[in-house]
Amino acid sequence: MPDSEPIIRIDHITKVFPGVVALKDVAFEVFPGELHSICGENGAGKSTLMKILSGVLTDYEGHLLLKGQTVRFQGTRDAEAAGISIIHQELNLVEELSAAANIFLGRERTRGFGFLDNRQMEKEAASLLSQLECDISPSALAGSLRVGDQQLLEIAKALSLKTEILIMDEPTSALTESEVDRLYRVIERLQKQGVTILYISHKMDEVFRLSDRITVLRDGQLVKTLNKSETNAKEITHLMVGREIEAVHLDSVREIGQPILEVKNLSLPWPGHARAWRLKDVSFELQRGEILGVAGLMGAGRTELLECIFGASPQPYTGHITLEGQPIRFRHPAEAKDAGVAMVTEDRKRLGIFSQMTVRENISICTLLQAVSAGMVRRGKESLMVQGSIQKLGVKTASAESQITSLSGGNQQKTIIGRWLLTNPKVLLLDDPTRGIDVGAKAELYRLMDQLCREGISIILTSSELPELLTVSDRILVMAEGRLSAEFDRKDATEQKIMEAATQTIQHASA
Ligand SMILES: Nc1ncnc2c1ncn2[C@@H]1O[C@H](COP(=O)(O)OP(=O)(O)OP(=O)(O)O)[C@@H](O)[C@H]1O
Ligand SMILES: [Mg+2]
Repeated sequence: MPDSEPIIRIDHITKVFPGVVALKDVAFEVFPGELHSICGENGAGKSTLMKILSGVLTDYEGHLLLKGQTVRFQGTRDAEAAGISIIHQELNLVEELSAAANIFLGRERTRGFGFLDNRQMEKEAASLLSQLECDISPSALAGSLRVGDQQLLEIAKALSLKTEILIMDEPTSALTESEVDRLYRVIERLQKQGVTILYISHKMDEVFRLSDRITVLRDGQLVKTLNKSETNAKEITHLMVGREIEAVHLDSVREIGQPILEVKNLSLPWPGHARAWRLKDVSFELQRGEILGVAGLMGAGRTELLECIFGASPQPYTGHITLEGQPIRFRHPAEAKDAGVAMVTEDRKRLGIFSQMTVRENISICTLLQAVSAGMVRRGKESLMVQGSIQKLGVKTASAESQITSLSGGNQQKTIIGRWLLTNPKVLLLDDPTRGIDVGAKAELYRLMDQLCREGISIILTSSELPELLTVSDRILVMAEGRLSAEFDRKDATEQKIMEAATQTIQHASA
C-alpha cells in the first residue's frame, strides 16, 4: 500500500489545551483505501487527532495535507465537503428529529419555495439505511433508536455525503454482538467501494481483524505505525502503555462471607412486548466479599436486574429483595445510596456524567454531605476526597477543576466509578464498567475490585466481555431472555458453557 500517494498526511501536528498537551508533533500518513487503526491508552490523544482531521477542532499547530494539498478546515462542513466524515465516540444526533432529518441535517432537500421535501428525504434515507441492513423507519425519532441503529444512521449520513474518508471513534463499544457483525459487514462494503477508514478501538481482536495498519499514540506522541501482518496484540499493548501488562490473576482466594443481598422471584413486566417479561423469577444470593458476574446477551435483562436492585427501574417489579436480612424496595437511587448500594451505569452520557460540571463536582456530588460541617461544605475536605479518587483510579485530568467533558471518554468513566466508591458502598453494582477503558486501566480496575472485596464490599458485575467475567468473578450467573439460565463457579466456567447457557431459551423459543 505505501507505494501509492498518501491520501492524508499528518504533518507534525501539536494540539495544546489549557494545562494539557493532547498531541505533540504527531506525523504519519494514511493511504487510500486502507483501514488504519489508531490505538492508545485513555487520554492518549486519539479523539483529539480525529477531531482535527474532521474539522471539529480548528486551532492547532502543524499541517494537515489531503491528497498532497495543505488544508485547514474551519468546521465539520469544510471537512465534509472535502470528503471526510466522523462518527464520534459519543454519538452526535439530534434526538428530537427523525432519522431522515438527521441524515440531511443542514442539507435539507426542498421542493421550491423553501418547503422541506420530507417525502424525498425519507425515500433517500430509506435507501441508504437499507444498504446498511438497517430496517428502521426513516421517520422514527433518532432518540428512540438503539445505539447500534443510531450509529448506522451516522454512517448513512456519511454515505449521503459521498465520504471518501470515514473516521470511526470506538464504534463498537455500545453494540450488541449481532450489531457488531453487521457493522463489520458494512465496513467491508465501504472498503470495497474504496473508502479509507480511520478506526479507533480498545479491542485488540477487532483491531487485528479489521486493520491494514496500526498507529500507536502514547501521551500525545506517535510511538510507531506498523503493518498488521508484522505485529501482534501483545506488541501493540506494550507500545501503548510503554511497559508489559501483566495478565491479572486473582487466584489467591478471598474470604467469602454470609449472604448480604438476597433476590427472590424478581419479575419485571414488559407490557405490550411478545416476551411479556423483562425479568422473570430471578432468584440469587450475593455473599459478602464476593464478585458475582452476570453474563448474557444484550437484552437478556442484565441492566434491568441491576436497576431493580438500585431503585432505578422505570417500572415497579414484583418479588423480594433483602439487604443484610432487611427487606428493601428502593423507589429512588438516592434511597439505595443511603442504604449502601451504589451503581455505575452502562450509559455514561445519558445517566452517568453531569456534563455542565467539573471533575471535582462530578466526583463529590454523591458525597458532598460528608464534607459538610456546621452547614458549610469544607472545601479542604472535599478536595482531599476528590484528589484521593483521582489518584486511586488514575484519572487523567489537568486538574480537578477541569470540565468533565474535557476528559477523554475512558477517563470520564473512571470519574464515575470514583464517585460511587466514595459513597462507601456495601454492595456495588457495576454495569459493563470497562466499556471504553484501555487495557492498562482495565487491569487496574480488576485489582481494585479485588481489593474492595477483600475490604468486605460485595460486587455484582455485568460485562459484554466474557474473558473479563472469567477473570474477576467468583461465581457467574447467566441470563437469557430475562431468566437465570445457569450458574457457574469460577473454576467450572468456560466461555463455551456460558455462551450455551446465554443462548439457551432463545433456541427453545424458536424451536
Ligand atoms: N476540550 C478539551 N479541553 C481540555 N482538554 C481536553 C479537551 N479535549 C481533550 N482534552 C485532553 O486531551 C487529552 C487527549 O484526549 P482524547 O480525548 O484525545 O483522548 P483519547 O485517546 O481519545 O482517550 P479515550 O480512549 O479515553 O477516548 C486528554 O488529556 C484530555 O483530557
Ligand atoms: Mg477518545
